[in-house]
Amino acid sequence: MQMKMNRKHILFLGTAACVVACGLLGSGLMAQSSAPPQSAASAGPKMAEEQFKNIKVLKGIPADQVIPAMQFITVSLGVECEFCHVQGTGGKLEFDKDDKKPKQTARKMMEMMFAINKNNFDGHREVTCNSCHRGSTDPVGTPAVMTAESRVEAKAAPAEDKKGEAGDARDAAKEATGPSADQLLDKYVQALGGAAAIGRITSRVAKGTIEFGDKSFPIDLYSKDPYKRISFTHMPEGDNVTAFDGHEGWLGMSGHPMREMHGPDIDAASIDADLHLATHLRRMFSKVSTGGTEKVGDRDTYVVVGQREEKPSLRLYFDQQSGLLVRLVRFAETPLGRLPTQIDYADYREADGVKVPFRWTLARPNGRFTIQVTDLKQNVAVDDAKFAKPPAPVPAPPQGLNVQAK
Ligand code: HEC
Ligand code: HEC
Repeated sequence: MQMKMNRKHILFLGTAACVVACGLLGSGLMAQSSAPPQSAASAGPKMAEEQFKNIKVLKGIPADQVIPAMQFITVSLGVECEFCHVQGTGGKLEFDKDDKKPKQTARKMMEMMFAINKNNFDGHREVTCNSCHRGSTDPVGTPAVMTAESRVEAKAAPAEDKKGEAGDARDAAKEATGPSADQLLDKYVQALGGAAAIGRITSRVAKGTIEFGDKSFPIDLYSKDPYKRISFTHMPEGDNVTAFDGHEGWLGMSGHPMREMHGPDIDAASIDADLHLATHLRRMFSKVSTGGTEKVGDRDTYVVVGQREEKPSLRLYFDQQSGLLVRLVRFAETPLGRLPTQIDYADYREADGVKVPFRWTLARPNGRFTIQVTDLKQNVAVDDAKFAKPPAPVPAPPQGLNVQAK
């Protein structure tokens, strides 16, 4: 798949309109170490330097990890792609050109980051662009003086799912004081209505609204067991679709070429599409531990960290009173760091013997949206064809433009 991006795509990537396309944040990859992993077998996926024209540092990573890495840089510095990439004629960004100074600096910074981790942290990716930049192009080296208000508001950042001895020891200490992770997972299933009731749900059709920024659009969501889900956001310019059929996923405006989901997108989609997630959680994890207590809004919660084989762990926040899941945090790996997605569940209502969240807010470093369900039906017939991938549109006849079919 040739990654030819035009300005429209980029805007879509970077703004609130990424509501549905935000999956673009994560395509590909499983880079655990600080240095880019070396290309494995020759028959493996296309490497960054094979697909792109001017890769000097991120060599040896799969090509579909380049954009997630760029997303990580962009949110860490609090900029848009234009900060480093020049616009050519017609407003298209020319990503391979090195004309902008910040792009050249960014290359040095990547080398620096890899070196810091290699020389000081045994190659573990402890320091990332965000460690220093924290949303600004100019990291502040001097501590600030105390102001009149004096309370420094810590920027909300989902805790990292650190592995290693320190974390485990801490977890074990906390485990002694509260319920165990297994008890919390069990209580969640009970709070929803029990495993049998959850198992009886085979489909869910919901209508509601999706809000991002000051905009609000109607949305229709269809889920069907096993792991099928499609949503239609009805926007003035057409329906924005995000779909997963249990194996593959795609998203975009209906009638236009859809972008395929990769790695972390698929992982995220299969979590969202699972009508029986509550009863599946335990077996998704190779290891579960408690992560102490935290406040989510006005709720006191117990945190459970679930580690998975080959995939970033999940953090689950259970209401101490009701036992319900009020927050889930997952991460998309990029070669430079992890991008978090945080979903807050609220407005649980009883439907067909199970509790269902009627509202959830999904937040990423560069955008957030809230879906409020107004109308819900379960165990109704939903045709499998609903989730079938639309055929690739016939490419328009060439008009001197390079029409990219993927
Ligand atoms: C802070 C600077 C910076 C920002 C912001 C940035 N990039 Fe990059 N980009 C780079 C650097 C540096 C490289 C070259 C990496 C290398 O040499 O390994 C690059 C390379 C690329 C390439 C490969 C181009 C080629 O053909 O060689 C693409 C595509 C790209 N960036 C897309 C994006 C997108 C999309 C965004 C916004 C989401 C973005 N970049 C934001 C610095 C940046
Ligand atoms: C150890 C701290 C640290 C890390 C890690 C770090 N930076 Fe920086 N970065 C700085 C500092 C400090 C400056 C400002 C230097 C100056 O003012 O001359 C800077 C400046 C920059 C600039 C120039 C900004 C401008 O206004 O022109 C870019 C671009 C940049 N960093 C990108 C990155 C990227 C991309 C990463 C991750 C790959 C990264 N940095 C990681 C400390 C860091």
